[in-house]
Amino acid sequence: MSSTALPLGIDVGGSGIKGAPVDLSTGTLSAERVRIETPEHSTPQAVAKVIAEVVEAFDEVHDGSPIGVTIPGVVQKGVVQTAANIDSSWIGCNIESLLEDLLGHDVVVVNDADAAGVAEARFGAAREQEGLVILTTLGTGIGSALLHRGVLIPNSELGHLELDGHDAETRAASSVKTREELSYEEWAARLQRYYSHLENLLWPDLFVVGGGVSKKADKFLPLLSLRTPIVPAQLRNEAGIVGAAVLATDKSDHRHH
Ligand code: BGC
Repeated sequence: MSSTALPLGIDVGGSGIKGAPVDLSTGTLSAERVRIETPEHSTPQAVAKVIAEVVEAFDEVHDGSPIGVTIPGVVQKGVVQTAANIDSSWIGCNIESLLEDLLGHDVVVVNDADAAGVAEARFGAAREQEGLVILTTLGTGIGSALLHRGVLIPNSELGHLELDGHDAETRAASSVKTREELSYEEWAARLQRYYSHLENLLWPDLFVVGGGVSKKADKFLPLLSLRTPIVPAQLRNEAGIVGAAVLATDKSDHRHH
């Protein structure tokens, strides 16, 4: 197998499954992204079928193309360990070997926030950062990625820190802002609590804020008062796809050399 075959990144989200081949010299998508609705009963088998459709949509994908897939949960050695915002049937499933058998490609399955963190470290807001970077994604839940000198420490679940007796993501995710109709000021007060707790525990050098709401970063980041610099993510909704493709290529190179 050749590591020069274009890798494919696939982002499995609550509403859509999105994929594209990625040019790793620039961190950009080398074809237009394909999006298929996430099946209503989103079991691993149902999602795997949709992933196969996404893969088939691209002529750029050859036999040797490694495929990276993001999942909104902890993934260890291909096995999904948590399912805070996805169907509980994912827990215990070795999604990596299921997909390898189905697709006949090298597959790596990773946490969604970890993939976004890797993409931002390689091509985006955390490029060339020497110290500790914490990326958080504010969406349905809160995802986190820890990167030290560009190296990922996988499966951090800092969205589930307990704050004032609550699971932090149930207070500060952007879905909570929508659900409780919070103003940016009201929501920022919760983010303040969250990020100051994080910076006191981990002393990062940089926070990167991803998730769809990072488009509106100017409405809430200036309201926060932190010692750590905090910046919006740059790859926006492509970060998961790009990071998954990077990790898939790393793993595939490792296997075949
Ligand atoms: C999950 C994380 C995930 C995050 C964002 C959290 O509820 O526990 O694994 O990264 O949501 O999707």
